[in-house]
Amino acid sequence: MKILFVAAECAPFAKVGGLGDVVWALAKALRELGVDVARFIPKYRGVEDEIELAEVGELSITMGGGPCHCRILKGTHPKGGSIYFLDYPPYFDRAGIYGERGEAYPDSLERFALLARAALELPGAVGFAPDIFHIHDWHTSLVPVYLRFGGFPQSAKTLLTIHNLAHQGIYPPERAAALGLPEEGISAITYRGKLNLLYGGIRFADLVTTVSPSYAREIQENGEGLEGILRERAAKGELFGILNGVDYEVWDPATDPLIWARYSADDPAGKAANKARLQEEVGLDPEPDVPLVGMVSRLVEQKGFDLVMESFERMMSLGIQFVLLGTGKPAYEEFFRRAAARHPGRAAALITFSEEWAHRIEAACDIFLMPSKFEPCGLNQMYSLRYGAVPVVRATGGLKDTVREYDPRSDTGNGFVFEEYDAEAMLAALKRAVDLYRRDPEAWVRLMVRGMREDRSWASSAREYLPLYRRLTGAG
Ligand code: ADP
Ligand code: GLC
Repeated sequence: MKILFVAAECAPFAKVGGLGDVVWALAKALRELGVDVARFIPKYRGVEDEIELAEVGELSITMGGGPCHCRILKGTHPKGGSIYFLDYPPYFDRAGIYGERGEAYPDSLERFALLARAALELPGAVGFAPDIFHIHDWHTSLVPVYLRFGGFPQSAKTLLTIHNLAHQGIYPPERAAALGLPEEGISAITYRGKLNLLYGGIRFADLVTTVSPSYAREIQENGEGLEGILRERAAKGELFGILNGVDYEVWDPATDPLIWARYSADDPAGKAANKARLQEEVGLDPEPDVPLVGMVSRLVEQKGFDLVMESFERMMSLGIQFVLLGTGKPAYEEFFRRAAARHPGRAAALITFSEEWAHRIEAACDIFLMPSKFEPCGLNQMYSLRYGAVPVVRATGGLKDTVREYDPRSDTGNGFVFEEYDAEAMLAALKRAVDLYRRDPEAWVRLMVRGMREDRSWASSAREYLPLYRRLTGAG
């Protein structure tokens, strides 16, 4: 069975959020299960610094405008297998992936339509002929649409994984000419008067998955306008929720080269050294016993920053230290810069994108805060569990499926959970965590170590995709 992942991101070559981690790690886990998987992503600026590239093919694709002459580059990773890159500098040789300085690129419709179209022509160009195109999010949702309406041979199947319904690829109907689709294809992806690429993907992919069972249920009620089509696919048994996993080759404090001191569930002592070093590096007071609360996140509404901003002073008055790593909405960036300036020695804000600091914060923090408004899966809470940063989360999507409230009577649970999207509820959960940390250090260590011992490796999640692939190829 041959599978081609087609996506806008793949770590470590191109990553904005969890999508990049998943495209990297899920494909790797599938390879370990014996599936022949390759990936296809754009060649963004800087990819050549991460992997050696060789030209393996050429494509000339004509859609709305004149022909686009593209090169196909290939990199081979010792663990990750083959990665094909679409090299078309006018679209992809840019400083960003989706945009720059908070502004989305205006031509992402054309950019990602080219990627989808090129994916279908890749077999002819490089000789990797997939049985299934496993596509991800709106950026590659045109693959099944081109398969259906673009005059391609129909034999390959498609599986769409939705990582986030908040991004659908919605464009005005006047842009349709750019897609090179017949009238029938355009009207099939027009939803509520606009081109909607994710809608098209959900409608025409042979199967649809999303990244946690809870999110798969939630989006049938509130699917950002797409609940109707999602319910239809679910009713036919064609929508599934499969939880993401963790790549412990990248995210494990026992081996992590990016943190200052290594540690594990059997020997967690090194965590204190990471905390002390982080405090020193980011200008927090050297207080070993003050609970350090961390966040690593895209600074977007989804992640619950309204709650954090509303209650920031009250959070600080619980006697915590706070560190945030993130970039995104300028108003959020500004808020955290100022908050850090107001609380010297107690709060720090790193307004940047840094893989290194993401790991260091997980390693240093006692508590990891993720009060998301919605969360399709969420990887950071799972990384936090392994790093002994006890998660405080809102019960939504994948957070609900991975974090269970601590119960002092039975000494069970792995974190602290609140239900309502509300600052009081978030503060109460954070207070439960801080109180336990102070009142009962032994119980705290048991809670922390319990989380560190959980196994959320990709293998079991990857195994859940196999029956879906088999169903599509008719192999059982
Ligand atoms: P989402 O995909 O919605 O952003 P996830 O929790 O699934 O949320 O994944 C987020 C990923 O992006 C994690 O690997 C996290 O470490 C990373 N990340 C987010 N912001 C930053 C940042 N500023 N610097 C480095 N890594 C970041
Ligand atoms: C999206 C979601 C996040 C999920 C990630 C990977 O970016 O926001 O919840 O973990 O995709 O599937």
